[in-house]
Amino acid sequence: MAVALFDTSTALNGLRQELRGAVARVLDSERYILGPEVSAFEDEFADYCGAAHAVGVANGTEAITIALRALGVGPGDEVVVPSFTFYASAEAIPPTGATPVFCDIDPDTYCVTADTVRAALTPRTKAVMAVHLFGNVAPIAEIAALGLPVLEDAAQAAGSRTQGPRPGALGTIATFSFFPSKNLGAFGDGGAITTGDAELAERVRMLRFHGSRDKISYEQVGYNSRLDELQAAILRVQLPHLDDWADGRRRAGEHYRQAGLGELVTLPRPVAGCAPAWHLYVVADPQVESLEAALAGADIGFKAYYRTPVHRQPPMLEWGAGVELPATDRAAARHLAIPMSPVLGREQADEVVAAVRARH
Ligand SMILES: Cc1ncc(COP(=O)(O)O)c(C=O)c1O
Repeated sequence: MAVALFDTSTALNGLRQELRGAVARVLDSERYILGPEVSAFEDEFADYCGAAHAVGVANGTEAITIALRALGVGPGDEVVVPSFTFYASAEAIPPTGATPVFCDIDPDTYCVTADTVRAALTPRTKAVMAVHLFGNVAPIAEIAALGLPVLEDAAQAAGSRTQGPRPGALGTIATFSFFPSKNLGAFGDGGAITTGDAELAERVRMLRFHGSRDKISYEQVGYNSRLDELQAAILRVQLPHLDDWADGRRRAGEHYRQAGLGELVTLPRPVAGCAPAWHLYVVADPQVESLEAALAGADIGFKAYYRTPVHRQPPMLEWGAGVELPATDRAAARHLAIPMSPVLGREQADEVVAAVRARH
């Protein structure tokens, strides 16, 4: 039995009628940009996260750039960012005029910690970006205690929980991606910024709309970066199901554990006190090539997302050359994402584990 790396459609099967209805509602309304669907989604998503404000934007990458700009980040500033993350986390910094300063991760959780961030601070650090990688939740309170604004890159963590607030309500400001394969995925690009700070939210609203509050006078060089009505309507259908899907992702992780995967490879470890909605289920192994071969032979999906960490990617060498991040290099060399979805059942987990067990 083949097992795909993702399954983005099965969970939507029961919602197809409602999704068609939402699309028809937008077509009939003839409001396509910044209308009632975006406003309603912003309210509903802010409620879901437990944040006072949510602002829809065009994607998760621009969400970061705009959030940093709203924090006042600009030329001459530094932003601390992990290197073991999707490229966009760091790529979103130079457009503000600031420079990325790469920090290491905790080897077990793949997230930044107060210690790894502290090692990268300088007098020019203006903000810290903590990525909730793979759905795990970085320890934001400890990082915030360093005394700088913290941006949560929560692109991979919609639906994850902590014993306190959810991702999106832990830091100074947070950013989300609604790329179709994400835990909450649109049918195209989309993103959001959440914050508890009304002034920051206002600046974000102004920046996403050409740096203007009224399209007559302009206060900043901003962006045309909006979530559109169709995507907002589609996301509104899905949001009420996000918690069930997150439970499904956790259950899938549990299936892997119960099927004995932890005896064969290193399983991802949740940050203390957090319940990750695994966006990617990433295991680690010193002989990762033989793991890849075994999965490929059994028709099981896998992907080495971050084999070359961001600070070693050519466009980042300007800031990354000479930076030594041992935990990042080790994770980059050994990690492998295996199938994960809200509907991955025990039989599929058994199939994956059997393939891993059978490798030579
Ligand atoms: C950690 C992380 N940050 C940022 C992004 C960028 O989001 P987008 O693709 O919506 O621009 C993504 C996902 O693509 C991501 O996984």
